[in-house]
Amino acid sequence: MRRGAGTLKKTRIVVIGVGAVGSTTAYTLLLRGRMDELVLIDANRDKAVGDALDMNHGLPFVGQTKVWAGTYEDCATADIVIITAGAAQRQGESRIDLLKRNVGIFESIIDEVLKYNDHGILLIASNPVDIMSYFSWKKSGWPTNRVIGSGTLLDSARFRYLIGEKLQIDSRSVHAHIVGEHGDSELPLWSLANIAGTELQLDEEAKQEIFTNTRDAAYQIINAKGATFYAIALALDRICTAILRNESAVMNVSTLLKDYHGISDVYLGVPCIVDRQGVREVMQIAITDEEKALLHKSADKLKDLIKSISI
Ligand code: NAI
Ligand code: 2OP
Repeated sequence: MRRGAGTLKKTRIVVIGVGAVGSTTAYTLLLRGRMDELVLIDANRDKAVGDALDMNHGLPFVGQTKVWAGTYEDCATADIVIITAGAAQRQGESRIDLLKRNVGIFESIIDEVLKYNDHGILLIASNPVDIMSYFSWKKSGWPTNRVIGSGTLLDSARFRYLIGEKLQIDSRSVHAHIVGEHGDSELPLWSLANIAGTELQLDEEAKQEIFTNTRDAAYQIINAKGATFYAIALALDRICTAILRNESAVMNVSTLLKDYHGISDVYLGVPCIVDRQGVREVMQIAITDEEKALLHKSADKLKDLIKSISI
């Protein structure tokens, strides 16, 4: 059937919260031509209207995506609703410090999305992302495969970049994972890290330096320029692409764990297979006892925090 004949379902992504992360994500999706329709929603309507106008003026350079500042009714035919709304860290704050503020904001956002959409995929980026994803899953009542957090995909990218820099190898050829909380209790899976199946030639000191710089990267960037947004935008674009193209790509997104190395009922970043249904499968991976203990510690931290909010 010819496109434009009115019978083809148009691909639609809604971005809720077009601050630094949301607008950069929208722009990245637009540049890469990921969808037919891109809807921007923000409590600050002027910001969404301004961003939509600005992006529309670039369409002669990128193509035919329809972009507009919308309302929650526009979620009705959305394939993916990305939530990047809410408070962001200020200098000296951790992601966890945002919890209460962002739960309050998500209460109303999830209610509004649910009024119009019961079939899409919720992709959460707001922090603390693992708890906000768990909250969104519980509140929506949607199956877990359709409520995804950006998890440690960004952290794993930072990790791969830093390993690549140290070893002078393209980061795309570095296979390495950060798992657990997207935050201070995350952990590196050195036991699985490799380049072409070969163990990394790094001493303990280099490993510690790489992991510390990975874990603390957001603090460094926030101190330098107030917010992080380019790399997370690329990570969110990567997840959307895996979904829309039904890729079955493996990525460290945040998902509900069910007896994962003995951990249940918490969202954490672990390697997952992502396709058109969202998280198709959580990958079972062999990890060391030490890594397992750290993963449990990360899970326990988030579970305690989940108890502190009412869902
Ligand atoms: P920002 O302050 O630039 O933007 C937040 C936007 O949310 C603002 O435009 C604001 O008007 C909007 N907003 C607030 N309440 C709203 C509501 N009820 N409905 C609709 N829009 C609402 O913040 P930034 O830097 O864009 O960060 C957004 C979130 O993303 C933060 O929680 C931040 O910590 C998180 N983040 C997560 C990353 C990840 O890896 N998952 C990476 C970077 C940031
Ligand atoms: C990041 O890791 C702040 O979560 C945000 O860039």
